[in-house]
Amino acid sequence: MQFETKLLSSSDADIKEAAEIILKGGIVGMPTETVYGLAADAENADAVAEIFRAKGRPQDNPLIVHIGDIADFEKYAKNVPDMAYKLAEKFCPGPLTMVLPKRDRIPDVTSAGLDTVGIRMPSHKAALALIRTSGKAVAAPSANLSGSPSPTTADHVMNDMRGRIPAIIDGGSCPVGVESTVISFEGNAVRILRPGFISAEELSEFAEVIIDRHITEAAECGERVLSPGMKYKHYSPKANVTIIEGSGTDYINFVNSQGGEGVYAMPFDCDEKFCKIPCIPYGDSSEEQAARLFAALRKFDELGAKQVYARCPSKEGVGLAVYNRLLRAAGFEIKVI
Ligand code: TXA
Ligand code: MG
Repeated sequence: MQFETKLLSSSDADIKEAAEIILKGGIVGMPTETVYGLAADAENADAVAEIFRAKGRPQDNPLIVHIGDIADFEKYAKNVPDMAYKLAEKFCPGPLTMVLPKRDRIPDVTSAGLDTVGIRMPSHKAALALIRTSGKAVAAPSANLSGSPSPTTADHVMNDMRGRIPAIIDGGSCPVGVESTVISFEGNAVRILRPGFISAEELSEFAEVIIDRHITEAAECGERVLSPGMKYKHYSPKANVTIIEGSGTDYINFVNSQGGEGVYAMPFDCDEKFCKIPCIPYGDSSEEQAARLFAALRKFDELGAKQVYARCPSKEGVGLAVYNRLLRAAGFEIKVI
């Protein structure tokens, strides 16, 4: 269906208009603290099917259900372990998604046929206002076209979704910038299925933490993965991205030996003044890099970049999330120098 995609603010009147779209089974571009999402009533199978169509998303990749109250974990999930409540007390609302056994009210299209559902309570005011005003939990994947970098501004969403959805709420830039940490429960341990702003180090204060190996390793063709999203090449700009792993000096020497049309560097901010080829720096700390990574990847598309050499981020704390997204953008291509 073709829409005149309307840009809404987060005023009460505009949130009400967005909530009415949700209640009628439509889709709204919704800001969250991580990235923008494409929100629809999680219990309305037709509305959720529309999300898959708007994004061009593979049918076997489940959506996260966003709730407005911690008590709602019980409404959509059953057999919620005590550990989930301990983590919810510390990290919810916030960028943590917990995979739990689903209740029947979640339709198969939302969970992509799995008997589990990923649930999170976002902390962004506009997201909470939309959920609470509509009175609906919303299923929301990141609001990019499938395979593209996730959107961290309303402008990014407009670029990908113009004509495909009726409205986008402009909530400014997303402060975290990478998607939520996705975890599942295994006895007393938690398994990180996708790293995010809530780090393994933070989670390990509460439970034994297993870092799923597909966070840093590509799945073999046909191999079963615990989180379907880990199968797909993701977050890719049109350019070929290569991660360069080595010291800062080695990185600078390497990029300065490269050149030619469409060849760019993606260094840390501290490297910028030494780069002799065009570059888009993406921050120094892991938090800055998380907040700026996707915007930088989108910028390379605008510039028509053909090859991007990205300096390898730290793999500690939030850095693991940055590394994981960059690895997928690079199709796992790393050059160690
Ligand atoms: O921060 C976020 O999580 C954002 C914002 C909008 O909330 N949403 C987001 O959704 O990143 P999406 O659909 O782009 O990514 C959801 C990831 C996918 O990798 C999916 O495979 C995984 O979560 N996932 C969802 N439900 C799952 C389940 N029941 N079991 C395992 N993995 C699941
Ligand atoms: Mg996504």
